[in-house]
Amino acid sequence: MTTPVIIDCDPGHDDALALMLALGSPRINVLGVTTVAGNQTLEKTTRNAQRILALAGAGQIPIAAGAARPLVGELAVAADIHGESGLDGPDLDVPVAEVAGVHAVELMRRLIAEEREPVTLIATGPLTNVALLLSLHPEVLPRIKEVVFMGGSTERGNTTPYGEFNIVTDPEAADIVLREGLPTTMIGLNVTHQALATDEIIAEFRGMGTRLGTVCAELMTFFAGAYRQNFGFGHPPVHDPVAVAAVIDPALVRTEAVNVAVELAGAYTRGATVVDLHRRTHRPPNADVAVGVDVESFWRLLMTAVRNLSTAGTAGSASRPSAPA
Ligand code: BDR
Ligand code: CA
Repeated sequence: MTTPVIIDCDPGHDDALALMLALGSPRINVLGVTTVAGNQTLEKTTRNAQRILALAGAGQIPIAAGAARPLVGELAVAADIHGESGLDGPDLDVPVAEVAGVHAVELMRRLIAEEREPVTLIATGPLTNVALLLSLHPEVLPRIKEVVFMGGSTERGNTTPYGEFNIVTDPEAADIVLREGLPTTMIGLNVTHQALATDEIIAEFRGMGTRLGTVCAELMTFFAGAYRQNFGFGHPPVHDPVAVAAVIDPALVRTEAVNVAVELAGAYTRGATVVDLHRRTHRPPNADVAVGVDVESFWRLLMTAVRNLSTAGTAGSASRPSAPA
């Protein structure tokens, strides 16, 4: 039994690993990949998604570019964390998968409408595209099984003292998604900061002896430097793949059904996720919030997926993948 998913992302080092986990797992079926501005400009995040799909031998999966800026305000990219390209580190001069000639929101609408099973949306960037989809096409709501997003925190932030990057980048979009009433899972920094790419993890990627394994090792080596420099972390957290892992194997992540509100107006806290973990507000639960993760099983899942892609014989191949429909 495979779960049909659409991945909306802003690659991004950890988005790249999230894509590989999804593409290399037999338990989920990636119907499409949509891109949003976030870690870098839309042009760059889209290019990066094209590169990763091509490297993973998944050029047949449709990709569409979406929102170039948040619903409100200006885009502030994370070049300090992901570099000028958004995927600094490895040599990614590869033939790229092609982009469908439709907006991400339209591709999502079509894929959801055409799929027999309800579709899971996995969002690993700002929630701009997802909020636009829910607002512009309410007819697809019954066809969405759940929204699983990486973003927010039950604790402190990484972009402002209390704000996490994806939510701070587009707080209004996150607010729309969390108010929609869809089954929603929030994978925040409080759990992703446990999924660290240690030296052993990087060595394991390198030890695969494949193009994809080497790319993962080089991505994580760059990411480690950025996290050391910006946060003083010994090892970098790979946030986004935890959201994919939660869809592949929900038992990997422990959640609490609670209320999450997005701070839209705070002088210092705009974009903070206000998580009512102790149920003090009596606001009804609107999300399953991750509070624990089985880190060892998470890494086994990710390593297996990258190995699966590498042994599929296409990863890193020089041949140009076929154009998406
Ligand atoms: C989130 O922000 C981005 O930098 C990462 O790709 C991840 O989605 C972590 O705060
Ligand atoms: Ca991301």
